[in-house]
Amino acid sequence: MEIVIVDHPEQVMADIIANAVRGGASVLGLATGSSPLRTYTELIRRHREEGLSFAGVDAVLLDEYVGLPTTHPESYARFIRDKFTDHVDIGEVNSPDGMTDDSIAAADAYDDLIKGIGPVDVQILGIGSNGHIGFNEPSSSLTSRTRIKTLTAETRNDNARFFDSFDEVPQHVITQGLGTICDAKHLALVATGEGKADAIARAVEGPLSASCPASILQWHPRATVVIDNAAASKLKDAEYYKYVYANKPR
Ligand code: GLP
Repeated sequence: MEIVIVDHPEQVMADIIANAVRGGASVLGLATGSSPLRTYTELIRRHREEGLSFAGVDAVLLDEYVGLPTTHPESYARFIRDKFTDHVDIGEVNSPDGMTDDSIAAADAYDDLIKGIGPVDVQILGIGSNGHIGFNEPSSSLTSRTRIKTLTAETRNDNARFFDSFDEVPQHVITQGLGTICDAKHLALVATGEGKADAIARAVEGPLSASCPASILQWHPRATVVIDNAAASKLKDAEYYKYVYANKPR
């Protein structure tokens, strides 16, 4: 696992995506939430000003709320269109069907779709304050596949800022499982701010445990954690990670 502590995580994240795309990546895994927003803004800038093209690249989303139509401003399918994919020349953008009557079948179908078009070359990830990735809440099986999950009150509370009230935050979601996420060739997690410092410390330096789903990155053969100093503030070995990054072989 590579831990990159920098003032502008979005630049490192955009470099990771741009290098993958220029190197022939055909599938990108996209995350929603506020953490990757600056990365998307930077990728849109590079597309417009530097000719970075996503032609020939398809995308898969991590997760979706159950019961929100894709036209709802907080549906993740709509969010990613508004914030990123409508502004670049990317191909198909796939997401779980949160509006079906049969969420179990929809989750299985989405897992099959990812297996069919995958492997995902780079999966972008954020992290929840309780250590979740995608919507894999604590106690998620470390080898789980795409499935319907119940959100914790903590996560609904964290996400209530995007809705008019807590009660409007859906209780159920369809999310790629931890096993599904780990099928990606490269996991790139971005986090900023003190509010993520505890979760980052548990994910990076705590035990590999379903209690902190993001700790699964420790097990993946190629995982990069890109954070600012505030998000790194509870890491015991922050200076060591900085040293390693500063002395990385060309
Ligand atoms: C959300 C999403 C995650 C995201 C996380 C953190 O609920 N399902 O994919 O990484 O929670 O969100 P934010 O980046 O807004 O803090």
